[in-house]
Amino acid sequence: MSFLHCFLILALASPILSDPCPQVCICDNIRTFVTCANKNLTEIPDTIPQYTQKLILQKNEFKVIPTGAFIPTPYLTHLSLQNCSIEAIQEGAFRNLARLRYLNLGSNRISIIQQESFDGLSSLEQLILEKNRIEEIKTGAFSQLGLLSFLNLEDNFLVYLPDMVFQGLLQLKWMRLSRNMISIVSLEAFAALSNLKRLSLDQNELQYLPGEALSRLSAVTRLELGWNPMTFILEEAIQMPSLQQLLLNNMALQDVSYKAFEKSKQLSFIDMSNNQIRSIQPLSGLEQLKRLNLTGNQIICDCFLRQFKEWADRLRLKVDLFCFGPNHFLGDHLDSLRARDLKCGNFPEDVYRIPVVTEKPDVDNVCPKGCECKTDDKHAICENKSLQKIPKGFHAGTTLIDLRRNSFHSIPKGAFSDMKKVASLHLQNCEINDIQPGAFMGMTNLVYLYLSHNKISSLSPEVFQGATNIGYLFLDNNKFSSIPKETFRLLPNLFSLHMQHNSINSVSSNNMAGAQKLHWLYLTGNKINYIAPTAFRNMKDLEKLHLDDNMLSEIPSQALKGMPKLTELKLSKNPIKKIGNGAFLPVSQSMQHLYLNDMRLQQISNGAFLGLGKNIKSLYLENNNLQNLPNMKNFNGLEVINLSKNPFTCDCQLLHLHRWVNSLNLRVGATCAAPKNQKGHDVRSAKFSSCPGWEDNKNKKKRYIPATSPSKKNKQRN
Ligand SMILES: *[C@@H]1O[C@H](CO)[C@@H](O)[C@H](O)[C@H]1NC(C)=O
Ligand SMILES: *[C@@H]1O[C@H](CO)[C@@H](O)[C@H](O)[C@H]1NC(C)=O
Ligand SMILES: *[C@@H]1O[C@H](CO)[C@@H](O)[C@H](O)[C@H]1NC(C)=O
Ligand SMILES: *[C@@H]1O[C@H](CO)[C@@H](O)[C@H](O)[C@H]1NC(C)=O
Ligand SMILES: *[C@@H]1O[C@H](CO)[C@@H](O)[C@H](O)[C@H]1NC(C)=O
Repeated sequence: MSFLHCFLILALASPILSDPCPQVCICDNIRTFVTCANKNLTEIPDTIPQYTQKLILQKNEFKVIPTGAFIPTPYLTHLSLQNCSIEAIQEGAFRNLARLRYLNLGSNRISIIQQESFDGLSSLEQLILEKNRIEEIKTGAFSQLGLLSFLNLEDNFLVYLPDMVFQGLLQLKWMRLSRNMISIVSLEAFAALSNLKRLSLDQNELQYLPGEALSRLSAVTRLELGWNPMTFILEEAIQMPSLQQLLLNNMALQDVSYKAFEKSKQLSFIDMSNNQIRSIQPLSGLEQLKRLNLTGNQIICDCFLRQFKEWADRLRLKVDLFCFGPNHFLGDHLDSLRARDLKCGNFPEDVYRIPVVTEKPDVDNVCPKGCECKTDDKHAICENKSLQKIPKGFHAGTTLIDLRRNSFHSIPKGAFSDMKKVASLHLQNCEINDIQPGAFMGMTNLVYLYLSHNKISSLSPEVFQGATNIGYLFLDNNKFSSIPKETFRLLPNLFSLHMQHNSINSVSSNNMAGAQKLHWLYLTGNKINYIAPTAFRNMKDLEKLHLDDNMLSEIPSQALKGMPKLTELKLSKNPIKKIGNGAFLPVSQSMQHLYLNDMRLQQISNGAFLGLGKNIKSLYLENNNLQNLPNMKNFNGLEVINLSKNPFTCDCQLLHLHRWVNSLNLRVGATCAAPKNQKGHDVRSAKFSSCPGWEDNKNKKKRYIPATSPSKKNKQRN
């Protein structure tokens, strides 16, 4: 290198070098990359070198980002502020950062995005806000981020997306809204996102497809909507001209209109795996479709599927579908069958010929007043129409009737007679207090019955007469003071029963008799203080039992007998103070997920977990009054354990827990509350070295380290 060259570099670098590196930070030698991570700082250091470009501040304790916090460092392009306990961003906090391209604010406690929170970030390309508590975004909050291409809002508390909330994000390509609680999307929520290519809305609370709002997204090619509790998709529900990949997996879909995607002609992949679809027609308008995933549904490969199969063959569409029936095709892949093999047993086929799908059925005559019936005939939507009587005159082919938010008060006998094809009936929020015997008579195909949020306090056993196929019954948020008796004998196919948030105060003996196929029972949020020992007798298939948020004062061990398949038991938020020996013995072979958190538990006996062990995958014990725990050394299949918010006494009696916790490769959250000198310490790192037995442990450890004592190791081998 020439002399002049050296001189030039020194001359150029010297103003930079003249800024010292702040004491708590680490700087590279030209001070453009500065790291002050993991330092418990409560304020942003005021001596960050002026020419810093990349600043890493994660894992501090800032709480607030004040206005103008970065005015001294205008050259920043990259700023990391994750895990800094940030609760608020003051207006203009990032002012002067016109060169910043990457801003990470993930894993903080931000709840509101103010209108001027991001002022001045005119070059920002990536904004990470995941894992906060954001429940509100003020209009205009993103209006200055004209170059942003990636926005991550995953894992927040958003419920509602108002109009124009993303206004200004003209270059946005990908937006992640996964894992929020979004249930309402306003019509113009996605307005002005004209370059968005990918939208992730999976794992929210959407019960209905926000079709109109989505139709504003004219450039989106990939839409992820999986894990939302939607039950049906209406015709023309999705009108997105550029859409190529649509993910509708793991929802609760029972019915998808054959015209649902007609206006999204570029679709090449649709994933509808893991839903509750029982039959499917050719999907009209999808000439580009290459792959359709229907695994994990309950589709019967009989003559009803023939048209679909012919259509798929014609399109050379790859369909992932395993037959749910008839018996001779059970588990077979649709690929392995020919269209002409798809037959309907004993009946002449013509009886089953389904109407040609392109034909527009004559619906005007068959839709009751006050309802909207879709042209494919199968859905009747009569939501919030001030109806006082169940309408009559639905088309005989209707499979879904939506009558939510009317005021029927009473459902008379035979209200739905002739509705043989209906699989799904929605009667939520209808002020119903009386259901007469035989109300659902004739509904032989009814599988999903929604009666949530009504005023029902009792049901006579005959209510479900003639509707023996009901599999999913929703009676939550009503006024039951007990579980209706004898009722389930008439529901031999009941799979899932929702009775959470009623006023049930006890479960009496043989209460669930007849519900032999029940897999899931939800009793959360009642007032249950007693469960008879035989209450759940013969529930051979029960897998999930939710008894959380009740008034039980002890573990209902006796009642757990007779549930050999129980894998998930929730007892959280019951006032149980003590768990005695063998409390879970009846279900110890099957139990995997045990919830014992928020109970004010004071003591767990040494033999309380008898029988439990390697099968347990999650154990929740947080927020109790536990000072010690029984030995859990055979719990070696754990994937989640939570011991936080317990006042553990870190004396020698806790040595076993300390050792066990240190042997796990999991976040446990156990902290000491006593004795004084250990208070606040993590059980993992607390001091137990003066305890008898501690030395054994140390020696044992040493024995296994060959380098330090090979002779001992050899002895071990012998
Ligand atoms: C930060 O604070 C925690 C708890 O107060 C402490 O354990 C840790 O050592 C501190 N870290 C630094 C770098 O000071
Ligand atoms: C921030 O905390 C979360 C969870 O507490 C953790 O998963 C993540 O790795 C942390 N990130 C950083 C950069 O420390
Ligand atoms: C179809 O869905 C199943 C279940 O979700 C999944 O395992 C499989 O990989 C999917 N196939 C394709 C092609 O996406
Ligand atoms: C029900 O309809 C009325 C007007 O008919 C409307 O004001 C109200 O917002 C609707 N409620 C819901 C929940 O859709
Ligand atoms: C444990 O429970 C506490 C208190 O409810 C919660 O804040 C924390 O996130 C939980 N930790 C894990 C690992 O689940």
